[in-house]
Amino acid sequence: MTTTPTQKYLDTLKLYYEEEVEGEAYFDCIAERLDDPDHKQKMRLMARVENYAAASVFPLLEKYGLTPRPSETLSASGKTQAEDSTTDWSNLIAGMRKTFPGYIDDFEGLEAMAPVEDLPMLKILTAHEVAAIKFLELEAKGEPGSANPMHHYLKTGTA
Ligand SMILES: [Fe+2]
Repeated sequence: MTTTPTQKYLDTLKLYYEEEVEGEAYFDCIAERLDDPDHKQKMRLMARVENYAAASVFPLLEKYGLTPRPSETLSASGKTQAEDSTTDWSNLIAGMRKTFPGYIDDFEGLEAMAPVEDLPMLKILTAHEVAAIKFLELEAKGEPGSANPMHHYLKTGTA
């Protein structure tokens, strides 16, 4: 039996999907603005992680007949945000280390509102943030394998 989702759940699901699409464009744009090839590659990986997360919940939008804002609009918005962002790598990483843990709370909040049958897809969404934070923590320590959590996520959908 299917549980009837609340409007708040549906609105939040759509919003978080849209934010991942924005995020993909955001990180691609950041990558373009950076000079260091290693940093560029890491931001491109982050964009792929965002894309993977968005794709993992897209079937839920379809299931509920939710229409996200057009991807061109979302990408343009992500790009605009990236244009205002710092290109100093340490500051960039430090900024994300501050904001990303809050997103975990948001995603867990979404899981808490969700019909149980939606959880497998939502857990893939939550895991992308866990993987990103693992990357940030390793990167802040200067670990050479810092991107491994993102590679692992892109292979398995788990953190
Ligand atoms: Fe994200």
